[in-house]
Amino acid sequence: MKPLIIANWKCNPTTQKDAKNLFELVKKGIKNIKKAEVVICPPFIYLPLLGNLSLGGQDCFWEEKGPYTGEVSPEMLKNLGCEYVIIGHSERRKNFSETDEMVNKKLKKSLSAELSPIFCIGETSEERKNKKTESVLKREITEGLRGIAQEEVLKITIAYEPVWAISKGDPYQTKEIPTPENIKKISFYIKSLLSEIYNKKTAENIRIIYGGSANSENARGFIKEAGMQGLLVGGASLIAEEFVKLVKSVI
Ligand code: PGA
Repeated sequence: MKPLIIANWKCNPTTQKDAKNLFELVKKGIKNIKKAEVVICPPFIYLPLLGNLSLGGQDCFWEEKGPYTGEVSPEMLKNLGCEYVIIGHSERRKNFSETDEMVNKKLKKSLSAELSPIFCIGETSEERKNKKTESVLKREITEGLRGIAQEEVLKITIAYEPVWAISKGDPYQTKEIPTPENIKKISFYIKSLLSEIYNKKTAENIRIIYGGSANSENARGFIKEAGMQGLLVGGASLIAEEFVKLVKSVI
């Protein structure tokens, strides 16, 4: 399977002109790359301006339409040509009080709109210090996937994003990142949970990617040494040259 490299632009950039410019530079830079799948997740408002690369939303609501001021539904994303949607990002869990139950509803609704969800899980530094990593991942996975059938779960990609490794937006800033051994251990644990909920074969077929301070220097290690099947990239996706270099480094 090709590595899946997802650009999570978060709340950037601040103008349409800069968004189009960044997108065009990335598109040009990865034009001949066939060995990686690249997805751009810009703020919602820029989605209609961008074309000819896979697109995703950074979040979605759990209803199709109705009196829900400010929300964007999975159907709206689908109708704009999105293939993917990020769900349960730690910044949404923390800043917008998203619960596992809300994440579960969003996952279900985006699956029924035929989007491929990128389901984010990961422990905070506090939870890590208190040796709660496994229990947090177990809760997030069990609750997040509650009621999702085996055929459906195969369309979900799990993004392991240790919250302590997520950057403040600067790809060159040195942040603590997990070692390949660390990530392998976690991914083994995630697979064992998925095996318990579904079965071994299904667990093996669910894609697991990594996110947290990935840049063009360390990306290859996450894929080749830690065995991740892709990356969710924040800060480093905002500089076209750096992001293109990152994509080239993993193929
Ligand atoms: P980062 O963000 O690459 O800037 O650490 C990753 C993410 O939060 O998805």
